[in-house]
Amino acid sequence: MNIMVVGGGGREHAIIKSLKKNSEITKIYALPGNGGMKDDCECVAIGAKDIDAIAAFAKENKIDFAVVAPDDPLVLGCVDKLKELGIPCFGPEKKAAIIEGSKVFSKNLMKKYGIPTAQYEVFDNAKDALSYLETAPIPTVIKADGLALGKGVIIAMTRDEAKKAVVSMMEDKVFGDSGNNIVIEEFLEGPEVSVLSFTDGKCVVPMISSMDHKRAKDNDEGLNTGGMGTIAPNPYYTKEIADECMEKIFLPTINAMNSEGRTFSGCLYFGLMLTKNGPKVIEYNCRFGDPETQVVLPLLESDLFTVMKAVAEGKLSETEVKFSNGAACCVVMASNGYPEKYETGFEITFPEKLEENEEIYVAGAKLCDGKVVTSGGRVLGAVSKGACLNCAIKGAYALCDKISFQNAYKRNDIGKKALAVYNKEV
Ligand code: AMP
Ligand code: GLY
Repeated sequence: MNIMVVGGGGREHAIIKSLKKNSEITKIYALPGNGGMKDDCECVAIGAKDIDAIAAFAKENKIDFAVVAPDDPLVLGCVDKLKELGIPCFGPEKKAAIIEGSKVFSKNLMKKYGIPTAQYEVFDNAKDALSYLETAPIPTVIKADGLALGKGVIIAMTRDEAKKAVVSMMEDKVFGDSGNNIVIEEFLEGPEVSVLSFTDGKCVVPMISSMDHKRAKDNDEGLNTGGMGTIAPNPYYTKEIADECMEKIFLPTINAMNSEGRTFSGCLYFGLMLTKNGPKVIEYNCRFGDPETQVVLPLLESDLFTVMKAVAEGKLSETEVKFSNGAACCVVMASNGYPEKYETGFEITFPEKLEENEEIYVAGAKLCDGKVVTSGGRVLGAVSKGACLNCAIKGAYALCDKISFQNAYKRNDIGKKALAVYNKEV
């Protein structure tokens, strides 16, 4: 069976390594993949946004099943195009991917269907937004409507910062057309939890919860990044909270999308904040999170391909989705300077052999004269599983010590906050 995975980062590497466990799969292509995946799949130099080229490749290479992982191709309609060619796909169609593609859409959806989220106002011009900010409660949160490489959210601690954010998005167009409309919303406080879920539009099966570490530096300081590390499960996400989320957020979201004629099939990611007034949705993503996937999939005991196929066929309720009782930690090794300026092109040295509980998922690397060299900000995720969170964290850092490249940078406190939660409870 020929499988195609669209995308090229650490998340896709984790998906590919999990898919490989299924013996029906004989060949996996990654479009475009990256040089660090060379032992796991065949990388094809087609960009994840080049929908026509992706479709042509799929047809020519007799692809039996496609997994479209990143937000851009999903929002652009990659799944619709592949389905037109008769290729079964894991991932939402364009009309459902809008749940991530437009914050105005998702906020209005939550308001219409009573799904808990931060209060908000939508603006289509800077003048009204600026005048609203004269009296809005501060801190406040400014969000560009469209995709903005994960950078379209500004937490403004002062009125002045808020106004500057509006001007940069709506007048200076720093995120291009994504800033034509903006959402200004209530600042929420509380622990954040990422819950990825499988859904075929009929039922929704949450995966093990996780915690991202978005800031570049230890103790959550420095700039926001794509994610510097993750742990799973998230200790704040208790059984009671999970039940409440299922009743008030997960099922209502699936039903709301059905009622809007936008049935969601694929992985729906709930970015939640556990506030004093209960769990609220911070954001939806129409895809697996990165680097959440890197800790969630290693803990999946069921076969990923079987689950993905069941989702695509609308038979998720007939399939078992089981996670192990253990924990996992992913420490991202980045190029020093990320998310701003950094140098690349340095050879990466990997350990000769990985232990059974270890994984390395490569995100930013390319092949150069047969060597794997750094090519991006986030270079790789060092992942370890363990019976407990502490063992997983120790394992991930021990694995980092066995990997080297010039100018490597990592946070040293991934999982520290989560461990403190457990320790307080004991
Ligand atoms: P996003 O790019 O949508 O994931 O948002 C980036 C980060 O901004 C989130 O992970 C939160 O930490 C923070 N954030 C987004 N919306 C809010 C909000 N309403 N209140 C407080 N923090 C927020
Ligand atoms: N880790 C957050 C995201 O994938 O958007």
